Amino acid sequence: MKKMTLEICSGTTCYMLGANNLLNIENEMPSELRGLAEVRALPCMGLCNDKELSGAPYVKLNGKVIEKATPEKIYDAMRALIEE
Ligand code: FES
Repeated sequence: MKKMTLEICSGTTCYMLGANNLLNIENEMPSELRGLAEVRALPCMGLCNDKELSGAPYVKLNGKVIEKATPEKIYDAMRALIEE
């Protein structure tokens, strides 16, 4: 299976609203998910200014935006991709 791409915004807004807790996610993943994603921290992705979206921190998994990202939301999204 091709590695997923997990991009974590580390811009100021996202960082202050929780992305700081996500930057180490690779080491905290449940064992069945560990190693399946290439994790990158990115500067502001510009999403924090988009009024259509509901809130930082923002993460992209294979290009798809996850709003108000938490580890559990990210794990669920990864599991959904595995099942596709
Ligand atoms: S700081 Fe994360 S999208 Fe702007």
